[in-house]
Amino acid sequence: MRLVFPLMLCLAGAAVGEDLQKLKVEEIYGKYCASCHGAKFEGGQGGSLVDGVWKHGASDAEISRSIAKGNLQMGMTPWEGVLTDKQIRSMVIFLREKEKQTMVEGMEFPVPSPDTVTNTELHDYRIETLVESSIERPWAIAFLPDGRKLVTERPGRLRFLDKDGKLDPQPVEGTPEVIEHGQGGLMEVAPHPDYEKNGWIYLGFAEGVREPEIRVITAVVRGRIEGHRWTDQEWIYRPDDKFRSGAGVHFGTRFVFDKGYIYFVIGERGGMMEAQDLARPNGKIFRLHDDGRVPKDNPFVSNPEALPGIWSHGHRNPQGLVMYPRDGALYSTEHGPRGGDELNLILPGRNYGWPVITYGMNYDGTPMVGITEKEGMEQPLVHWTPSIAACGLDIVTGDRFPKWKYDLLAGGLAQQEVRRIRIVDGKVVHQEIILKNIGRVRDVAVGPDGLIYVLLNDPDRIVRLLPAGE
Ligand code: HEC
Repeated sequence: MRLVFPLMLCLAGAAVGEDLQKLKVEEIYGKYCASCHGAKFEGGQGGSLVDGVWKHGASDAEISRSIAKGNLQMGMTPWEGVLTDKQIRSMVIFLREKEKQTMVEGMEFPVPSPDTVTNTELHDYRIETLVESSIERPWAIAFLPDGRKLVTERPGRLRFLDKDGKLDPQPVEGTPEVIEHGQGGLMEVAPHPDYEKNGWIYLGFAEGVREPEIRVITAVVRGRIEGHRWTDQEWIYRPDDKFRSGAGVHFGTRFVFDKGYIYFVIGERGGMMEAQDLARPNGKIFRLHDDGRVPKDNPFVSNPEALPGIWSHGHRNPQGLVMYPRDGALYSTEHGPRGGDELNLILPGRNYGWPVITYGMNYDGTPMVGITEKEGMEQPLVHWTPSIAACGLDIVTGDRFPKWKYDLLAGGLAQQEVRRIRIVDGKVVHQEIILKNIGRVRDVAVGPDGLIYVLLNDPDRIVRLLPAGE
């Protein structure tokens, strides 16, 4: 105790002298925490911060409190007043990242390969590679009633896979002009639920102008395919020219069809606060009639300032969207910044909080907002730190993986994983990583055959999971 007090004062003094506000969270840790908690977070004078043991409580709020209030009796400096609330919040995210990384390092993930059986909690599976090398940036897969599949390639090509999963070398011709820019390009594809009767295929893509400079935004069309020709194209949603921008990030997309409606996503395109602006399409989930008309009962139709197609707002970049077959609940996975990826239950008119609240921080480790909850803003069902870079979401149907039936499968680009998520009574009760480390997962989709299709980037591939023994 006698030792600790002067040490604390001298730390606080050092902090005031050197503009602590500018430091990134790693630097703060290195300068002010590592001396007691270890350069690798392993502990020393203070305890390990990565062993999953939290003496004073394991919730984010309790860890924030431990840092803010300290415990002078035991030798932990109180950081309140030295670090801002935002910095303390960033520190919690940072410690969560390190905790998870340390756990994963100490864990054996089976590297799934075509000849081996991967064992998971409830099912064992094998991987079959359908397409390799001949495909570029596969983004989404959709299933046609005759057993063929459609796959988008981000540079702008729409291609068929035959019944056996072989890639047709000839792309569909005459598809809309796509501008591949940053994360954007040709993204989502899905047939209308009555495709057999009406032949409609829907596409979501980056649309705009190249001259005098690239300005783009996410748009949605539908059309029919005759042989290898795209025909009968109609716009479903084409944002006004003024909403286009040069940003190469956060395009969203993904479609859900239900009861004559189409739901789709436009990411905030890097314009963070625009997610809160109902006059802009950025950071919104939309609901339209499947021909593009605005439903009369949409939540913001009577607000003259709002775009009437908006269903929910305050999103950063959702790239997973599904509807639960049992109760019609709409779920979305969304990329957070650094940390704070989310799974949300999407309800009409609700505000999901970006960028006012978030469980993440800036990519460079500087704090973002420091708050995770606010009146009038929705909480995610779960959030993931470190970010998995959530992309692609589907629900297990069919009878090939019966013990996974109705579980969500969420892809992750950065964590190279497929995560199985069990929801009971609207709550996430269990998560399991069922596939890991064979590439960045761009899309995961359960086929009408009950098999699980995974689109991978780096290396670009399409694989599917078969129950072991088949
Ligand atoms: C002078 C040494 C010292 C420094 C510097 C220090 N800590 Fe601590 N810290 C401790 C000790 C000792 C404890 C254990 C206190 C206890 O047992 O109640 C502790 C506890 C904690 C806890 C609670 C752990 C638990 O199991 O609940 C957290 C979180 C924490 N420190 C974070 C930090 C952060 C973040 C920094 C830098 C901003 C920091 N500490 C700087 C000594 C230090």
